[in-house]
Amino acid sequence: MKHRNKTALTGRVPQAADKTSRAAAKIDNQLGSNKMASDLENVDTAIEASKKIVVSREKEIGESAEYPKGPVGLDIGTSHIVMAQNKGKQIQTVKQLNAFFTIPYSKFTKKILVENDISFYEKDDLFYILGFSAENFAKMFNANTRRTMEQGLLSARENEGITVLKSIINTLIKGSPGKNEIICFSVPGAPLDNLNSVVYHESIIKMYLTSLGYKPSSINEGLATVMSELANDNFTGIGISMGGGMCNVCLSYLSVPVITYSIQKGGDYIDTMVGLSVGENATTIKSIKENDFTLAAPPKNRVETALEIYYIELVRTLLKSLETTLRKTDKIPKINTSIPIALSGGTVLPNGFKELFKKTMQEVDLPVNISTIRIADDPLNTTAKGAMVMALSEEI
Ligand SMILES: Nc1ncnc2c1ncn2[C@@H]1O[C@H](COP(=O)(O)OP(=O)(O)O)[C@@H](O)[C@H]1O
Ligand SMILES: [Mg+2]
Repeated sequence: MKHRNKTALTGRVPQAADKTSRAAAKIDNQLGSNKMASDLENVDTAIEASKKIVVSREKEIGESAEYPKGPVGLDIGTSHIVMAQNKGKQIQTVKQLNAFFTIPYSKFTKKILVENDISFYEKDDLFYILGFSAENFAKMFNANTRRTMEQGLLSARENEGITVLKSIINTLIKGSPGKNEIICFSVPGAPLDNLNSVVYHESIIKMYLTSLGYKPSSINEGLATVMSELANDNFTGIGISMGGGMCNVCLSYLSVPVITYSIQKGGDYIDTMVGLSVGENATTIKSIKENDFTLAAPPKNRVETALEIYYIELVRTLLKSLETTLRKTDKIPKINTSIPIALSGGTVLPNGFKELFKKTMQEVDLPVNISTIRIADDPLNTTAKGAMVMALSEEI
């Protein structure tokens, strides 16, 4: 399966990011190749797009899916699926919850669901309610929604997981029959701490997007962070996406992913462990974490203390894994200068996260020098934006 491992932007390696056209013209003269010039123009467009601001929104219940015009970036995350498109001066993203809920079939209920524009499908005497609608049902039943993915990959526990995931993607994008629009979707790096492979997950999604009429390619989630955030650093640095199910890491040199991996711990792990420690359910903890919690002030109660403890533990595990992985590889580029780290994903959102990360950095001895640590402009939309930047560069 093709990863985004190819050297998509290497035509401009020695150039600063905004000098691509000149490089293109030069190569064009040398090779007499118009194709090369137009390829590099696409890269220029992609780099420009990576500097645009993101305008994001949630998919509204009842709102129909779009027929995308132009290349699409798709972040397929454990918690959310985010679609990004390049529209004028902005990148626009639309988000759907990657969750479902089942209720028993009845003709009466079906009519009510249809009238209320709920996204669902029926199978084996059940209605499968999709996306944000599922959350509302789960609240009414005081139960949890079910997930199509677990720890960053298709869930092995849910028989219907694949069908539901496809249907949720389909609430965001309609097919592209005959048009073959380019779609670039995010895939995790191979998990360090598990035998699980991303091949199955990636293949299933690729087959589905092909069946919808798209031309799909995949991008490593850590690289997507680099593509979105590190344009001014010539796409050289470490991108880390810290989501619900996992953390994804990519060391990129001039947009080439040199090292990629994931650990299957993230925000969900914090919720579960804090819940177990203080005797609350994980959903309650998640809500406290997302709404009232800060790492910038001392904890005020038992839950906040536990949240801080598990945040520290997650960041420590991540940084230790980075140290070990970088130390044992023979692939580290011999970079003389310092490189930045860009952090994205919902787990980096609490105030004080950057400071916690910086402080924990002192516990490890990385074999590369780090210049700055940056939080992404819009951490929940970074992966989709980075995937879209890559999709733009591939436009024909
Ligand atoms: N404001 C917030 N503060 C802390 N954590 C948050 C916040 N918003 C979302 N999260 C957490 O971020 C994770 C989801 O991040 P996201 O990047 O959407 O993940 P995924 O890639 O798994 O879909 C969840 O664990 C969620 O609880
Ligand atoms: Mg994600």
